[in-house]
Amino acid sequence: MKIPFLNTKKTATLPPPVPQKPGSTNVTSSPTPLKEGIKTADIKINTKEAKVDKAVNTFSAGVTDIKDIIAPASIYVDFNHLKIGNKFYRSFFISGYPRYVGANWLTSLINFEHPVELSMFYYPIEAKGVLEDLRKKITEFQATLSTDRENGKVMDPKVEAALKDALALQDKLVKGVERFFQFSFYITIPADSLEELDNTTKMLQGVLGALLIVAKESTLQMEQAFQSTIPLCVDKMLYVRNMDTSSIATTFPFTSSELTRNEGILYGINKHNGSLIIFDRFSLENANSCIFATSGAGKSYLVKLEILRSLMFGTECIAIDPEREYKSLSEAVGGEFIEFSENSASKINPFDIPTTDNQEGGELAENALGSKILSLHSLFKIIFGNMSNTEEAILDKAIVETYRLKGIGPDPKTHANESPIMEDLYKVLLGMDEPESKNLSARLERYVKGSLAGIFNQRTNIKLDNPFTVFSVRNLEDVLRPIAYYIILDFIWTKVKMKMKKRLLVVDEAWYLMTHEDSAYFMYSIAKRARKYYLGLTTISQDVNDFLNSEHGQVIITNAAIKILLKQSPSSIDRLSEVFHLSEGEKRLLLSVGIGEGLFFAGNNHVAMQVVASKEEHKIVTTNPEEVLKKQAGIKEAELKSEITAGRALNQEDKPKTEPINEEVVNKTLEQVQEPSNSIENTNVKDNVSKTAESKPSQELKKNTIALE
Ligand SMILES: Nc1ncnc2c1ncn2[C@@H]1O[C@H](COP(=O)(O)OP(=O)(O)O)[C@@H](O)[C@H]1O
Ligand SMILES: [Mg+2]
Repeated sequence: MKIPFLNTKKTATLPPPVPQKPGSTNVTSSPTPLKEGIKTADIKINTKEAKVDKAVNTFSAGVTDIKDIIAPASIYVDFNHLKIGNKFYRSFFISGYPRYVGANWLTSLINFEHPVELSMFYYPIEAKGVLEDLRKKITEFQATLSTDRENGKVMDPKVEAALKDALALQDKLVKGVERFFQFSFYITIPADSLEELDNTTKMLQGVLGALLIVAKESTLQMEQAFQSTIPLCVDKMLYVRNMDTSSIATTFPFTSSELTRNEGILYGINKHNGSLIIFDRFSLENANSCIFATSGAGKSYLVKLEILRSLMFGTECIAIDPEREYKSLSEAVGGEFIEFSENSASKINPFDIPTTDNQEGGELAENALGSKILSLHSLFKIIFGNMSNTEEAILDKAIVETYRLKGIGPDPKTHANESPIMEDLYKVLLGMDEPESKNLSARLERYVKGSLAGIFNQRTNIKLDNPFTVFSVRNLEDVLRPIAYYIILDFIWTKVKMKMKKRLLVVDEAWYLMTHEDSAYFMYSIAKRARKYYLGLTTISQDVNDFLNSEHGQVIITNAAIKILLKQSPSSIDRLSEVFHLSEGEKRLLLSVGIGEGLFFAGNNHVAMQVVASKEEHKIVTTNPEEVLKKQAGIKEAELKSEITAGRALNQEDKPKTEPINEEVVNKTLEQVQEPSNSIENTNVKDNVSKTAESKPSQELKKNTIALE
């Protein structure tokens, strides 16, 4: 056995310890008792050393040391205060504590507006003795209660509560769940005058009263109480209160938590201590994030800020936007805003097969058709709703046939051929013999010939090459949104796999995808594989239950490295608290917080956060109708001004072709329009911003000049 062996070795080689007089600092000055085995020579040396030490002591007594320098000349000890130099001090001891406390309950005392000296002493106590005392106490309480019962009296609720506490504590101590401590707490307040001392005393007692703490002036024991609060670590009062581990843990005064990294972008301000929450999503185990809150809590606002800040660090961003609210952001940074609707020019053909030429580390080309067909199956399940097994088999046959008719087969070389569109599949289904195929083609007709043909029956004509691309689906009906979300996501995911880049993909109102098992699975598979392609998936939803009810939705939540909860509704808070392990206090916080406030989770840690934006950022990302109108009015005014300036410049002299425009006035007007560019530092984005901000009015100017000519 290892430990006994070490022990014997130690005792064998080390000399026996020299006994020490408790409290004495100078060991050799006390006569060393004679022990067997110690030679007379040793004793001689010891007595010699003692003599030297004595001489040193005598000498040092006459020398000024640190204590002499810092000690006051005198201390005036009064009935209920001390006076040291020109300062007055009053000390308190705590004699009563509240029955229930939460974590960090001493904050208001720590943040007391007047300087205070606090000292806390923790004494660990052996459980054995405590258990005996507890048993006695419990018997006492039980006896009191049973006597009351026998005498027909109403039982004393205080005794009942004490008995319950004692039994619970006994149980925990026996099991070793809790340990036992004694705790003492003293406070000293300094002041410049007696009057100030009295005022501060009242204030302090007010604060303590609010905490249900009973504090008493240590009348006639001012000196001892004062000594207990200076940093000497001596408790001269010994006024203790019994506490178990969990209660004593709550007295730890500095529970404000930091959650920040050295690099990354700002998410918000830590509400505990005002520090910044800075994170680089790509440095975590995955770059996914989930944001949940009620409508109007500030989810999109937060994400738009994140996009704006990420763009500065060269991260490409893609967003699916159901509310058309990313438009002003896209304009500000020179992004591409793609409207996905019947009449818009932008189209995506769900039948496109990813071409292999620029596939860097992407999926194997041989499998491209196979995985495309699988993804089409999921799409048709969303379009058709439920399908029978026969229908699925027929659909599969029809899809393969549709590709074959276009000359596309498993051979990657054929994938370069023009891909089919929805209409081709419709025709194949029509031409098939099985009765189910007629049924399927009838259900598909709406998407090929009907009102929806403009969206789903077209060739792809968009690219994903802007640093910021937004897909807006606001003009689609609610029933079509899951389909559109799926097609867009599939398109983006295919592009993401083709070329690896640092990217963020934002899916706003992602609950649309949770309404179908297949789209939920798709979202889940993107979340799972995103890290491999340097992609961070941001999932935003106002409906937590949709996510929690779906098996895949739950995994998306639990596996995201960053999670943000803003204001919640009472109907979802209980389920959320199960998934996020929220405490009662956090639950209450989430129910009552204002816009842009909530909890930020990174891994296992979380802090309360306040989302903040600079003035310039706010102008770009806000969707507050009043502010948006004001901004539009501002731009219109500026345009009007520039028109007038241009007109005046032309009227002043009758030579419009040669006359230059009054540059000074135009520049001023441009400055007014160019609000958003200030906060953006990255040159790329800045260029874009100034380009978009400048180009509009200057184009307008050019137009006017030409028109007037
Ligand atoms: N941190 C914030 N500071 C100031 N205004 C905010 C903040 N967060 C949101 N807002 C404003 O609150 C409104 C709702 O925000 P929004 O992000 O659209 O909510 P959600 O997407 O959660 O429905 C918008 O007008 C937005 O400008
Ligand atoms: Mg929103």
